[in-house]
Order: sequence, then structure tokens, then C-alpha cells
Amino acid sequence: MANVIIVGTQWGDEGKGKIVDLLTEHADLVVRFQGGNNAGHTLVVDGKQYVFHLIPSGILYESKGCFISNGVVIDPQVLLNEMEELAGHGLPVTPERLLISERAHLIMPYHKLQDAGSEASLAAGRKIGTTGRGIGPCYGDKVLRHGIKLGDLLDRELFREKLGQCLEEKSFLLTKRYGLEAPKLEAIYDEFMGYAERLAPFVGNVSLALDRGRRAGKHILFEGAQGTQLDIDHGTYPFVTSSNTVAGNACTGSGFGPAHIDAVIGILKAYTTRVGEGPFPTELFDATGDQLQRKGGEFGATTGRKRRCGWLDGVIAREAVRLNGITDLAITKLDVLSGQPELQLATSYQADGATLEAMPNNIKTYDNLKPVYEKLAGWSEEIRHAKCLDDLPAKARAYVKRIEEFTETPASIISVGPGREETILLRNPFIS
Ligand code: IMP
Repeated sequence: MANVIIVGTQWGDEGKGKIVDLLTEHADLVVRFQGGNNAGHTLVVDGKQYVFHLIPSGILYESKGCFISNGVVIDPQVLLNEMEELAGHGLPVTPERLLISERAHLIMPYHKLQDAGSEASLAAGRKIGTTGRGIGPCYGDKVLRHGIKLGDLLDRELFREKLGQCLEEKSFLLTKRYGLEAPKLEAIYDEFMGYAERLAPFVGNVSLALDRGRRAGKHILFEGAQGTQLDIDHGTYPFVTSSNTVAGNACTGSGFGPAHIDAVIGILKAYTTRVGEGPFPTELFDATGDQLQRKGGEFGATTGRKRRCGWLDGVIAREAVRLNGITDLAITKLDVLSGQPELQLATSYQADGATLEAMPNNIKTYDNLKPVYEKLAGWSEEIRHAKCLDDLPAKARAYVKRIEEFTETPASIISVGPGREETILLRNPFIS
């Protein structure tokens, strides 16, 4: 029995979807524990394309139990659309296959309006570049104790009462502060009662179910969304998402005890990307950045925005190892680097005459921050066929080795292409 967490080590979009898909084969239960439909990944299986925003992709395997736990924020319409799409592919999502936590908070229509209003009201340079899905306002209300939980939907009276209270305050904010029209109580109530009817069979106590699974010796995979540098506490605040994206939240976000975790896999893209605004020390503004963007197909899965691209940042990789307790790295998209004559790895930063070996807390420090690079030799060969380390050119092996040395963490998985089979699996956390 092994319980494994997968997290992104950078700013999200590290290629977690593929690694989750790969390891799901060895898991019995798969859990989404934070974030919402700001996340997204696409899988192509047997020629059919599936886009996931909320439901774990484990749903594609008939024998796996899937969970959306308390730490996730749920837009019910998006969830139902996802279920319908899967049903359209001949994969009906049944309550036997998917359990959703009664404690998960709901993204309400006013959260999306608030997200848009807040972004629009920020001056250039201060905008976060959110996905516009209402994520921040929903988590904000949760922390303010104004949130509405999925379980509240099942109690009509309670739901109406909470909605009335929230709407009073939100209407004021939306109309007076953002100049937007506030949604009407009756319309939201009717819409959400429709969702309640359809979602009720799926709602339950995820923590209890996971504990039963653990006691029965099931392998559990916790699937993180976004990445470490987008963590609300540890990321480049305020240019972050509104949840804890680090491994510790797999436990808080699902009601699972930390002592039962056996491995933490950190997904590290072989270079760095970021969508949205905010600091990005190794960002490239030249032809190399454009090449990585094009060859890597670097467009956001949720918003379609072009991702900013840059060299691999060892400082954030080390930081991710520390913050998440990463036991194994999965290096992704190594193939995208083929053809680069020389590679660079940031090993520290210089800022205001000082050498920094960790991400600075003061956001202004990033204005004068310069990465200190170590140069590494590139390789010209395409590597998508590689099945073992020996199939890689010596310079690609040296790049991987240097990442392992610098992060003091073994690379157990190396992805050399988007396909499931384009993977070098050196250690399977569910088996060894
Ligand atoms: P929010 O999560 O929509 O509030 O957006 C906050 C920041 O996190 C923005 O910079 C987004 O681009 C970024 N973000 C949110 N989700 C993802 C993701 O899944 N991948 C990459 N960036 C994300």
C-alpha cells in the first residue's frame, strides 16, 4: 500500500496531467484536493480527447474511485458539464465512481463577477491575471466564514438563508464598487436547486471514505493542481492562486493524516513557464523563449493564454523540494530542449548586491533581481523514442544528473513526449 502526492514545482502547467494519468494506473483511489476549474488538462486516449478541470482523470479507468475533496472549490455548472462530456464519450460518471466532499465550497455567480470586477479595477502592474473563474473570491469567502458549501445545497432552508446573507453584501460590492449588475436571489436559488438535485447522489464524507480505503490497503493518489510558486503562503504573493498548492494541503484539503503519506512526486518541467502576471526571474524575452513556447505548445489549458517561457530555475526547484518534502522528481518535456545549443540553469539570484538562494518575500525585490546562471551543454538529437536513460544523448543525461545534484532529489520519471509511452520510468512510487 502506498499513498502518493503529486505536486507542481513551478507555476503550474508542468505536465502534471500526464504523470497523474501514468501513475493512476497503479492507484486505486484518486483525489483532487485543492483549486478549482482554474486548472485544466487534456488527455488523448484511444484517439478521444478529454479535458479535465475538476474530475480526476482516473475516471477514465473503470476500476478507480475518484474524489473531489473539501479543499477544492466547485463551480457546479462546470462539474456537470464535465460529467456530461464524459457521458457523451460513453463514460457515465456514477456515484459509485465519484464522491464529492460535502465540505467543498461552491463558486457562486457573484464570485465570478467579483473576480472580473476586482481584476478590472486594479491598475496595470498590479493585476494578477487570474483565470476569471471566481477562485479567489470563493476561497476569500470561505476564510471569512461567508462561504456556501456543497452540503448546504442539500438543505434548502439553510441554502436560501446563507445565500440571502451573502447576496446582500455582494450586491453592494458589485454595484457600488465595480459598477456591475448584481445577480438576483431567486434566479441563483432556482439555478442551484437544479444543481442540488443532480449532484446530491455524489455528495458525502470524503475523509471517511479515504480512511476506509487506506485501512483496506488501497493505493491513494493525491493530485495537486497549479504549482508551488502559486501557493497562497509560499508563492510569489500576491501573484498567486488562492489555495495552498503545496503537498501539505493534500492532507488538510482532503482530511487525510500526514503520517500516511509515503511519497511526494514533484513535477518539474525541464524549463520554466508561467501564465498570468507576476515575477518570473528566468523569463526569456528573446528568440529562445519563443522557440520554447512554440516547440512546447505553451498555451494555457484553461484560458488558452500564451505561456511566458524561460530557463530552468534551480532556486525554485530547490525551494519546491523543501516546501513539499519531495521524494522524487518527474522531469517533463525534456524533448522540448532538443536542438538548443546551450542550456542555462539558475543556481542563485543577485539582488541589491546580495546573493539569494531562496525566493525573496518582498515582491519589490524581484524588480532588481538577476539570476546567476550555470551553463550546460545542449544536445541536437530528438529524444522522444527514449525508453531508458541509456537511450538519451550523454548531454541530456548530464542535464538530468545536474538537476538531481542541485535539488538533491532523484529523478524517478523523465517524460520525453506527450504520449503515455514516451516516458522513462526509473522508479514507480507505488511499487518500490
Ligand atoms: P486564479 O487561480 O484564477 O485566481 O489565478 C491566479 C493566478 O494563478 C494567475 O496568475 C493564474 O494564471 C494562475 N493559475 C491559476 N490556475 C493555474 C493553472 O492551473 N496553471 C497555471 N497557472 C494557473
